[in-house]
Amino acid sequence: MSRTIFFEVEILNPKTKEQLCFLDKVEPHSTIGDIKGLFHKSYPKWYPARQALKLDPKGKALKDYEILQSLPVGTTATLYFRDLGPQLSWTMVFMAEYIGPLLIYLLFYFRVPYVYTHKYALTASPYRVVSLACACHSFHYIKRLIETIFVHRFSHGTLPLRTIARNCVYYWGFAAWLAYYINHPLYTPPSYGDMQVNYALIVFTLCEAGNFSIHLTLNNCRGDGSKCRQFPYPTKNPFTWLFCLVSCPNYTYEIGAWVSFSIMTQCVPVALFTFVAFVQMTIWARSKHMSYTREFKDYPKLRMPILPFVL
Ligand SMILES: NC(=O)c1ccc[n+]([C@@H]2O[C@H](COP(=O)([O-])OP(=O)(O)OC[C@H]3O[C@@H](n4cnc5c(N)ncnc54)[C@H](OP(=O)(O)O)[C@@H]3O)[C@@H](O)[C@H]2O)c1
Repeated sequence: MSRTIFFEVEILNPKTKEQLCFLDKVEPHSTIGDIKGLFHKSYPKWYPARQALKLDPKGKALKDYEILQSLPVGTTATLYFRDLGPQLSWTMVFMAEYIGPLLIYLLFYFRVPYVYTHKYALTASPYRVVSLACACHSFHYIKRLIETIFVHRFSHGTLPLRTIARNCVYYWGFAAWLAYYINHPLYTPPSYGDMQVNYALIVFTLCEAGNFSIHLTLNNCRGDGSKCRQFPYPTKNPFTWLFCLVSCPNYTYEIGAWVSFSIMTQCVPVALFTFVAFVQMTIWARSKHMSYTREFKDYPKLRMPILPFVL
């Protein structure tokens, strides 16, 4: 009969090398997540999502699913602990990020007192494009809120509180800036009038539908509730056929929606927001594209990160 060899795990402070915790008789098939749970019992304030455990003080944090006996350690494992700070769930993060722009925009649309000069308090713009822009902007963020609650299944549990503050400044700040100009009493409608607005509205609607379709497809990739990643394929829904050409079509559609919103409103701050979002999403799309090509040997060669045949 084979005897189980238990492990000893010591957890150190990476700076002082002081021993924070010593775990005796740890099962060899315990995961890093299990060890975090045991460490949490000694230090209740450091709940598992706040902890990063590393094999090397300067190395990468171990993943929760990694198994103790598969790590390059002897029967006594030394791990280094880093406190990641207070955490919020991704759902909370996205709610905070998206409710802000939704409400801030409406303050400008309804011209609540003190936003513009007193004379314009609670007045409405005479232009149809201003109301249409408000409807599109609100729809966009309501859609994102609904997706956050009902569609996305995030694999990373939480995000540090300090990152959330930075993201909120970005989303709330831009929303206020572009709403200020679009709803300003001196705003003038786009050069080509209704034709420009109507075409932009059609593209905006298609891009929103495309973005939603891609989010549904990504959600279905985790149909069994697992956290493991696979690379997504086009489905019968024509909006998902963009997967034939790019790795992150949800970002492509998102950019399309903001480009059309910029054309509809013909407003410089909207175009700047679109540009910044494009740069950010391109960075993420390239990194995701690289991880797909690294991980999957049969990854389709035609796919680019975000823009078909270009980028
Ligand atoms: N305007 C802007 O500045 C801006 C910037 C960024 C995003 N956005 C919008 O917000 C949306 C969500 O952004 P995001 O960065 O979270 O998008 P994302 O990385 O594509 O993730 C969307 C959802 O799909 C899941 N997912 C991604 N790849 C998957 C795969 N291969 N298999 C299974 N599930 C997978 C993600 O889970 P994980 O938790 O595992 O990643 C997440 O739940 C975007 O599509 C875009 O519409 C807007």
